Amino acid sequence: MAQHFSVTSLSLLILVVVLPLGCYSSRSRSFRVSISRVGGDKHLSDVEFIQQEVLRGKMRLNRLRTSLTSGGAFQAPVFGGDGTFFMNLSIGTPAIPFRAIMDTGSDLIWTQCKPCKLCFRQPTPVFDPALSSSFHNVSCNSTLCKGFINSKCRNGCHYTNVYGDESSTEGFLATDTFTFGDSQHKVSVPNLGFGCGVDNQGVGLENAAGIVGLARGPSSLVSQLGVQTFSYCLTPISDKKKSTLLFGSLADMNLTLPHGAPVNATPLIKNPSQPLFYYLSLEGISVGNDLLRIPRQVFQIVDGGGGVIIDSGTTITSLQEDAYNILTQEFIAQSKLKVSNFATMGLDVCFEVRSGDAKELKAGVPRLVFHFTGLDLELPRENYMIVNKGIGVACLAMAPTGSLSIFGNFQQQNMMVVHDLVKDTLSFIPAKCDKL
Ligand SMILES: *[C@@H]1O[C@H](CO)[C@@H](O)[C@H](O)[C@H]1NC(C)=O
Ligand SMILES: *[C@@H]1O[C@H](CO)[C@@H](O)[C@H](O)[C@H]1NC(C)=O
Ligand SMILES: *[C@@H]1O[C@H](CO)[C@@H](O)[C@H](O)[C@H]1NC(C)=O
Ligand SMILES: *[C@@H]1O[C@H](CO)[C@@H](O)[C@H](O)[C@H]1NC(C)=O
Repeated sequence: MAQHFSVTSLSLLILVVVLPLGCYSSRSRSFRVSISRVGGDKHLSDVEFIQQEVLRGKMRLNRLRTSLTSGGAFQAPVFGGDGTFFMNLSIGTPAIPFRAIMDTGSDLIWTQCKPCKLCFRQPTPVFDPALSSSFHNVSCNSTLCKGFINSKCRNGCHYTNVYGDESSTEGFLATDTFTFGDSQHKVSVPNLGFGCGVDNQGVGLENAAGIVGLARGPSSLVSQLGVQTFSYCLTPISDKKKSTLLFGSLADMNLTLPHGAPVNATPLIKNPSQPLFYYLSLEGISVGNDLLRIPRQVFQIVDGGGGVIIDSGTTITSLQEDAYNILTQEFIAQSKLKVSNFATMGLDVCFEVRSGDAKELKAGVPRLVFHFTGLDLELPRENYMIVNKGIGVACLAMAPTGSLSIFGNFQQQNMMVVHDLVKDTLSFIPAKCDKL
């Protein structure tokens, strides 16, 4: 296990973000997009929000399980109606704005298209390809069509994405110009391949009109842009500020930690049975100064199953249940706070707190370190304790799961999470995400 760096030391120099303007080209392969939490506009306490997200996460997990057990080398993406962050973007010429879910667990970019055989309600007009001068259908022998696994040649390049919960989107693959970024700094990307969905069943998308896939497949946004790097920086659940998604050299942090220490990276490993997902190599977890006695194979990919993925669309980290039980037992044993019997949906380990502020948590609950290959990640307390001040409880924001463990977005708050797609590595850099 490599050098240690603590995410609590926030003294790091943050990126000086230089925003490119105008058209995306191979020379300016770099732009930023604001993203917001789905449901972040509702008036819920943090704990209520988490409860809702735990349910949502369970649904997502069920989809993951379905896709893991449905056989075959290539699976449908895991997404099907939830996902935690959305972005604004536009499609076509003239540009029609819409809202889409960002999903690191699936690869296709798609939106609902006219003429709809079946479209769900969306807040903006459904995209009409006939009104866009830059729209083109793709031929069956295009790279896009051949690269997308659930496509077949039928009246053009026909695609289907059936999700684990049996919702689906169906239509034809096409290209058009997409525009990303906020009003001052827009970047347009011509000829981006996407799914024009004319038959979209049972996909409630939280007021979004489609999905932007950021997973590893060839049709994802990051693959099509050909960027070496993308990263995101998620603001805490409790502040409603926007988070940031960066592509290209903006995300390519050539940063060092304080004292010139290099930023460590951990390998993003591949699972041929689940080629879309970003798998991490987790070697162990420490509670306080004690490395837990979790058998190593608990976190390894075995026969295409198990393993640990990093996902932006799952809120709290789910650990394989043996590991979860070992962790929570030790966590309670080392905590100085009184265990609360406040049983809340999906959060089993809670403590009584007075204010639940940083000082009380630091004194009251042990530190938590995830040992990834080449990178030890000490989480700040606020990335694993969720506080309800009203009731006076603080709960551990983690949940047990069957075999596939997921490093969720609650644990990734206030860190620049950098995916290097050329080196196949991931880094975590402490940051104030609302200040980027
Ligand atoms: C998207 O646009 C809407 C309407 O202009 C705005 O209220 C919202 O904050 C934007 N969301 C993001 C993530 O930029
Ligand atoms: C398919 O590709 C071949 C070779 O690149 C090309 O000659 C042919 O016109 C293409 N067919 C269609 C329908 O685009
Ligand atoms: C694109 O393909 C679809 C499906 O075959 C077809 O309905 C549509 O008219 C085509 N659009 C254009 C502009 O060729
Ligand atoms: C990264 O930093 C190193 C050391 O300062 C420097 O040699 C290298 O050129 C930098 N790389 C990029 C891409 O800026």
